Amino acid sequence: MARSDRYPFHILWTDLRADRTGTAHTTTRTRNPLRERGTVTRDLELGGKRIKEGDKVVMWFASGNRDEEVFGNPYDFDVTRQNNDHITFGKGSPHLCLGNLLARTEIRIMFEELIPRLADIKLAGDVPRVRSNFVNGIKKLPVEVTLA
Ligand code: HEM
Repeated sequence: MARSDRYPFHILWTDLRADRTGTAHTTTRTRNPLRERGTVTRDLELGGKRIKEGDKVVMWFASGNRDEEVFGNPYDFDVTRQNNDHITFGKGSPHLCLGNLLARTEIRIMFEELIPRLADIKLAGDVPRVRSNFVNGIKKLPVEVTLA
């Protein structure tokens, strides 16, 4: 069930059809769409680095979501993963994405509705990305589908 998160789209689709448990979690962990900038409120040491109050820092959620000390085989796209404590929506101290339940529900419903209708889905062209150091997005995703 485990797949590299760089695997072709249509191979991942086979996994998603086989087991929907954890699909929304796995997708948001490995396809994290954002990064955040913050200002440090007190001196601290993090990962062996000293950070001073007032320093500007960037949270690279995509990197944290692949922390090999937290996630075994972090590059595997495994919809059955049990430990999936990712930080895609923040960590809740003090901030947490207020829309996280809505976003997760939308993603879950999208898969629930799409999966039974499609036997297969394949990439059918280039996937141009958004040029941004804030949003990890794509401009278009051409696909070829086979109806179920
Ligand atoms: C996949 C979709 C989404 C992702 C990945 C996402 C991610 C995030 C992240 C990383 C933060 C910052 C948390 C922090 O500061 O530590 C945030 C904040 C926030 N998000 Fe989202 N978000 C998503 C969808 C939504 C939706 C659908 C809504 C509203 C309907 C929403 C509303 C908010 C609000 C209001 C905050 C600010 C919370 C605060 O500063 O206390 N988000 N989101």
